[in-house]
Amino acid sequence: MKIFIDSANLEDIEEGVSYGVVDGVTTNPSLIAKEGADIHSRIRQICEIVDGPISAEVVATEWEEMVEEGRDLSQIHENVVVKVPVGPEGLRAAKKLREENIDTNVTLIFSPSQALLAAKAGASYVSPFVGRLDDITQPGMEMVRDIVQIFQNYDFATQVLVASVRNPLHFLEAAKMGADVATLPVAVVRQLLKHPLTDIGLEKFLADWHKASELR
Ligand code: E4P
Repeated sequence: MKIFIDSANLEDIEEGVSYGVVDGVTTNPSLIAKEGADIHSRIRQICEIVDGPISAEVVATEWEEMVEEGRDLSQIHENVVVKVPVGPEGLRAAKKLREENIDTNVTLIFSPSQALLAAKAGASYVSPFVGRLDDITQPGMEMVRDIVQIFQNYDFATQVLVASVRNPLHFLEAAKMGADVATLPVAVVRQLLKHPLTDIGLEKFLADWHKASELR
């Protein structure tokens, strides 16, 4: 499973890259706004750090404008993937961008049916938001299981990019289900690396080493 960093913060992205586990990056308008950055320059900076798919989202609401914005974003770097929201306008934009060979990530997916339609429209990725479904007491990972199954049934090339990941269990379940990508806040990457038995084991190895060194 590929791992993307879900952030527009350069330090977060660099931290993930330093662990050697990062295949790409996802951003959204909220993440860019949080950084107070201009979208074009921030996406360009991210493309310099990570050599992989970098999702940049449109903010237009009509499909023709989404396409224009998408074309502009795709000019920043060959690795840019244009993120469009699912819905009638988003699907029209995804179809048009596919015809122009521009990769898209259809986002804000909350049902397997939305994902299926986005795949048919030619999306390169679909982004099911698991954490936000959990927030309203609907199991987000069940949606992912259904999407993976449907895409396998029909041999869709569209990749399942698990988004709105909030904890290590989301990540583990996504890997067990065979999702193509999980996009993670760097804090979740840190949580994944942590295990109390690793800490206890390391502490004991070092204590034994120092004890033995004193005897020498
Ligand atoms: C990524 O593509 C999404 O925009 C992001 O994962 C949303 O996460 P959130 O629900 O934690 O805001």
